[in-house]
Amino acid sequence: MPAAAAYAPGKIILFGEHAVVYGRPAIAVPVTQVRAKATVFADPSGPEGRVQIEAPDIGLHTSLDELPSDHPFALAVNGVKDTLQIIHLPALRLRVTSTIPIASGLGSGAAVSAAVARALSGFLGMPLADEQVSAIAYRVDQKHHGNPSGIDNTVIAYAQPVFFVRGQPFERILVHQPFTIVIGNSGVSSPTREAVASVRALWQADPETYERVFDSIGAVARLARQYIEQGQPEQLGPLMTENHALLQTLTVSSPELDSLVETALRAGALGAKLCGAGRGGNMLALVTPDTAERVAAALRAAGAVNSITTVIGSRT
Ligand code: PMV
Repeated sequence: MPAAAAYAPGKIILFGEHAVVYGRPAIAVPVTQVRAKATVFADPSGPEGRVQIEAPDIGLHTSLDELPSDHPFALAVNGVKDTLQIIHLPALRLRVTSTIPIASGLGSGAAVSAAVARALSGFLGMPLADEQVSAIAYRVDQKHHGNPSGIDNTVIAYAQPVFFVRGQPFERILVHQPFTIVIGNSGVSSPTREAVASVRALWQADPETYERVFDSIGAVARLARQYIEQGQPEQLGPLMTENHALLQTLTVSSPELDSLVETALRAGALGAKLCGAGRGGNMLALVTPDTAERVAAALRAAGAVNSITTVIGSRT
């Protein structure tokens, strides 16, 4: 069997993180400047069923049998076997690499799962549909994030801008006029599970207050969709900054993220917010082609460990 390789992009949540866990809409878009790659090679010298796994970025070199059954790679490989109703795999080698920073709101977990699912099913000659890839990545996230909304696996498996409401079929967003986003990495890694759990504790203690915050975030996401589809992306700036303030009330910002958001605004961004689970990880800023480099440089000077400039809607 020839080797098979597959890629999956990173993602950012433009609007609606956290509230999306509670049924409010959110908007996410793929970020193709960073990606996970999985390659599956035949291992003619290996015994049937032996799956060797190499992930040099995290120093992992092992076999599937030696991984705990809830390890993300084991869950992804077994998810493919279950979906394709395969009992025995041929001997193979799975190599996984990724340029998506881990635990930083850019969807690295879902992207790795999606790339593994695609590469393995492609290698076996039974490539999975986007929907199946998304379902496998969701099940992996469930083990590791506790209560994922499903937005990460959806935007990454379909690699399209999505308007997502938990439990409903997602809707593709048509970007009428491309717009530019600068992403700044605070360098603080932050597990999604913890931020999601702390929002849950707040909500359980005072559901009325936090339902109102979630409603406000949902309203921002709905309005943002209209501006994106009507070709008025500059209107998204104030909505992003408003979304950031609402995330602050959920206590998921951090001094580093707040400082990067302020830096971006001072450098001329039209709006800025944290993205993903928060407490660390990345923030994003809406810029114009003219201000992009200035904002990116200001973020790096203010402590961002790196920045990515991406144009949303340029391929749709
Ligand atoms: O930090 P990330 O990229 O895993 O994003 C989490 C988004 C949340 O809304 C906080 C959680 C979820 O499951 O939607």
